[in-house]
Amino acid sequence: MTWIGTSWKMNKTLAEARAFVDGLVAARSALDGVRAFVIPPHTAIAAVRERLPSDVPLLIGAQNAHWAPAGAYTGEVSMEMIADAGATLVEIGHSERRECFGETDDTVALKVEAAVAAGLTPLLCVGEPAEVRAAGGEIDWVAGQVSRGLSRIAAHDRHRVVLAYEPVWAIGDLGREALPDEIAPVMAMLSARFGEARNGVAAVLYGGSVNRLNAAALLGVPGTDGLFVGRAAWDVAEFVELVRIGARAGAAGRLDAR
Ligand code: PGA
Repeated sequence: MTWIGTSWKMNKTLAEARAFVDGLVAARSALDGVRAFVIPPHTAIAAVRERLPSDVPLLIGAQNAHWAPAGAYTGEVSMEMIADAGATLVEIGHSERRECFGETDDTVALKVEAAVAAGLTPLLCVGEPAEVRAAGGEIDWVAGQVSRGLSRIAAHDRHRVVLAYEPVWAIGDLGREALPDEIAPVMAMLSARFGEARNGVAAVLYGGSVNRLNAAALLGVPGTDGLFVGRAAWDVAEFVELVRIGARAGAAGRLDAR
């Protein structure tokens, strides 16, 4: 099943979050056959959970959580707290967290371990900065980030993890769209070394300047199980359109596999 998800980053009030859910519920049939997820800011997780009818197949995530179960960590929330609010998924190691908030591969590994222990699905984000890509070092960089990120969990727990390859140079307003050919070697490496065939992670997603125009081509890159979208999915109609593109790609993939 194709994964299509969005993180709202630091956007949406409670009213805006509820309006997004209502828009999605109005288009609920689009969600059939796709593993869709939405990652609100912490303040809106519970509101999204409460607004969403329990039979609508949408996963809810959190954008971050601390590895410790509780304690004197002002401003942080624990894995248990986000699960209690309604999250089943937790984003870990997004490049904005690494760049702006000092996340390292060590803290990422601690969070992946804590997420698995709490029964959450870690969505482990990896990706090389522009200078590493310019020097041709992206494969080693990304493989190293994944190895270190998974280093604290047992091999038999890897299937509980979802990876997102998000090259830093392709993310956000200052990013540029990646071409399918540019990401293909990295996606191939991730699925070969860490994917299901190796008893590895549950899925490998691509993210960074994804939108309705490039989504189908990016989903066509071998080894890509879905898309992780920022800006282009914050409007619910656009999110629904991306979900539909994901459903079509999944259906085409099933036909190809026959
Ligand atoms: P973007 O963000 O789609 O707005 O580039 C992607 C991400 O940060 O996951």
